[in-house]
Amino acid sequence: MTVDTRWQTSTPHGGELVDRRAPGDEREDLRQKAAEYAKVVVGPRQLSDLEMISTGVFSPIRGFMTESDYTSVVDTMHLKDGNVWSLPITLSASEDEASVISEGDEVALTDGEGRIVATMVVEDKYSYDKRYEAKEVYRTDDENHPGVAAVYAQGDTLLGGEVTLLEDQPNPRPFPAEYYEPAELRRVFEGKGWKKVVGFQTRNPVHRAHEYIQKSALEIVDGLLLNPLVGETKSDDISASVRMKSYHTILDRYYPKDRTLLAVFPAAMRYAGPREAVFHAMCRKNYGCTHFIVGRDHAGVGSYYGTYDAQHIFEEFEGEDLGITPLMFEHSFFCKECEGMGTTKTCPHDKESHVFLSGTKVREMLQKGEYPPPEFSRPEVVKVLIEGLKAEGKSFV
Ligand code: ADX
Repeated sequence: MTVDTRWQTSTPHGGELVDRRAPGDEREDLRQKAAEYAKVVVGPRQLSDLEMISTGVFSPIRGFMTESDYTSVVDTMHLKDGNVWSLPITLSASEDEASVISEGDEVALTDGEGRIVATMVVEDKYSYDKRYEAKEVYRTDDENHPGVAAVYAQGDTLLGGEVTLLEDQPNPRPFPAEYYEPAELRRVFEGKGWKKVVGFQTRNPVHRAHEYIQKSALEIVDGLLLNPLVGETKSDDISASVRMKSYHTILDRYYPKDRTLLAVFPAAMRYAGPREAVFHAMCRKNYGCTHFIVGRDHAGVGSYYGTYDAQHIFEEFEGEDLGITPLMFEHSFFCKECEGMGTTKTCPHDKESHVFLSGTKVREMLQKGEYPPPEFSRPEVVKVLIEGLKAEGKSFV
């Protein structure tokens, strides 16, 4: 395998990591002032966005998008300063909230319990076309698409401007041992002497196909960042806490400890397929990854995207503008004739020899306490998943 290394660098997207947290000794004062500001209540997704903006995962973004950035991102997949950015990061307000807010105001962002978590200078207050956003970003305006449904459920006015975080943890951090901010993770990579690091996004347990593409990638870099998304996902995805147990199990048993790191990615899942693949890559660049894995139907849902759409989208950018090398993998599977893992690129046998199970089929089996074949998933992992589903009352046994 040859890889073009021209743009391999761990420089954050836009040049430097953004930090939008107020200094600790100023927070009390700022909180008292903010108590007088108009309030905007933010939900779990925006709390997660706030956390990601403030700690630099979304660098170079410094707040919720103003209209010019929003339009530029929706239409061109670039911020107005020219940096690649593929998903809108927006804050919507209800009619009541928006009616008392004017451009130039400072507002307080509160969580569902009324706690002020951040302030924002409202640079822009604007209306937007949800259906247009859906078609451009999600490639469908079907309300059954979970990402599109989330856009349709938002308020009708968007507020844009820089944020200042007043709380260390705007969002609960359920996995503190595996939680790293970008600056911390970069130091960890440096400490380990990893120059080339491949990031792996997942919202699922690690199956044999994932393991195969991760290890294939690891053959050409120094370290693997297993970076499961633990923010909001749709209700039939396996919960983050069960998945985390399964990651520890497989890492302990089958991965080299000195070349693998498990860290959570606290973003919400958008299911935006191709556009989300680019977004995922930019975030991993900020964490210090030089490479990023994009396999089959990355961040897809249902049959909204073609199997390799999330790979083709990278052709629309110059490598230098991305600043991270995507590693594309074909659909992977265990082949009974080859007696090993492979892809449509490396295995000459036909489909009948390939062990393939759909996500729906696997979920059904796990819920019934049935083990998918070991060629599909490591039995140790399956055991953890079945026990986890039972404990959460999501099993039929
Ligand atoms: S995702 O929504 O987070 O992308 P998932 O956890 O299933 O979903 O996938 C994680 C990564 O593995 C993605 O890059 C995806 O494209 C890739 N992937 C998943 N299954 C396969 C497979 N059988 N063959 C190749 N790549 C795969």
